[in-house]
Amino acid sequence: MPTMPRPRLILGLLIVMTLVVPATRAAAAGVRVSIACGALGVELALCREAAEEWAQQTGNSVSIVNTPNSSSDRFSLYVQLLASRSPEIDVLQIDVVWPGMLGSHLLDLGPAFADRVPGMFPALTDNNTVDGRLVAIPWYVDAGVLYYRRDLLEKHGIAPPQSWDEMTRAAGTIQTRERAAGQSGLWGFVFQGKPYEGLTCDALEWIASWGGGSFVDADGDITVNNPLAATALRRAASWIGTIAPRGVLNYDEESARGVFQTGNAVFMRNWPYAWALAQGEDSPVRGRVGVIALPKGGPDGRHAGTLGGWQLAVSRYSRHPQAATDLVRHLTSARIQKMRAIRGAYNPTIMALYHDPEILAANPFFEALLPSFVEAIPRPARQTGAHYNQVSAAIWRTVHAVLSGSTDAPEGLEQLQQSLDRIRHRARW
Ligand code: GLC
Repeated sequence: MPTMPRPRLILGLLIVMTLVVPATRAAAAGVRVSIACGALGVELALCREAAEEWAQQTGNSVSIVNTPNSSSDRFSLYVQLLASRSPEIDVLQIDVVWPGMLGSHLLDLGPAFADRVPGMFPALTDNNTVDGRLVAIPWYVDAGVLYYRRDLLEKHGIAPPQSWDEMTRAAGTIQTRERAAGQSGLWGFVFQGKPYEGLTCDALEWIASWGGGSFVDADGDITVNNPLAATALRRAASWIGTIAPRGVLNYDEESARGVFQTGNAVFMRNWPYAWALAQGEDSPVRGRVGVIALPKGGPDGRHAGTLGGWQLAVSRYSRHPQAATDLVRHLTSARIQKMRAIRGAYNPTIMALYHDPEILAANPFFEALLPSFVEAIPRPARQTGAHYNQVSAAIWRTVHAVLSGSTDAPEGLEQLQQSLDRIRHRARW
């Protein structure tokens, strides 16, 4: 892990806002705990509210640190802070693919959460266990889903698509007809096409949906160079400039949501958080959106959503590990997860909450799509351990080159196979 000489400076540059929430009660413990929360959609506001509640209940105070939206940028920030053993952030919100890369810098939360673990999705607690240590507590789980404009599909007599062929045709037909009728800015499909972690997630969905595997198999063998993966990428490349704007090559989650939520796209690939915002009071598409599983590839294909999600971890370099652990207990409790599910569409990590009528009323698709969450496809983070980031960067670079038209799919996959072989050889996984 590279060392970073000036973490304070970097933090100052990257953190958009730092909020100090003072304790109102006479401080019992009186320590200040800082937590780095995500800031996508309403994430930051919900994190702040729950952390403030904890501060008031315990007599401590919290600093809320806003981190970059791109998970790749957030990862770089954490690497710099942790490699320099900075005590500046006590609690870190970490991605589901990071435990193997960051685990050695994080405390073992197993003993403090022994009572909670049995109620959580085992796949997540297993994922967060590195060398027998539970280095992070699952906070919310993500899986890629397909959003569609229910009103437009109904208007044109088109059923929600089950396969990528159907989605491509429906997007093209509605885009052509609506443009002819005056909605000149309408596009068929938006997704995450920028070269970053989000593109690795989208590409995994395309490839797995065609039966082309998940880049690296469970034994660590590299499987990406196969004809079904080529078909999947060729199909995705065909969307650029036809049903998807060329600008999608620089879209992350929020850019895609911006286009969809302003009524300028028929379909969108995104995570569940976009539901709460699309249904928000001020959303132009409120009441006109449906959510279904991502389409299948060819005849042997399947609905495939990438497994995502975020965890809370305590830094080994924290000066207040007990208070920080207590804050994580508060934030990951059933009550706070329920509040976040209702107000932000963040999928709980506690299984029993999927039977909660208020949560299901706020997010009708949670129940129907539960299999998509339970069977979501993991990225090859466990097999590649500390090298996952290099693997993912090689994937997103290749996929971006294929989407942009600078490489064709078979050639790109051949090169990707070679790059991954080289990483594997050096890493000896
Ligand atoms: C979402 C997912 C996360 C993924 C990221 C990619 O935040 O929860 O797992 O890495 O998107 O952009």
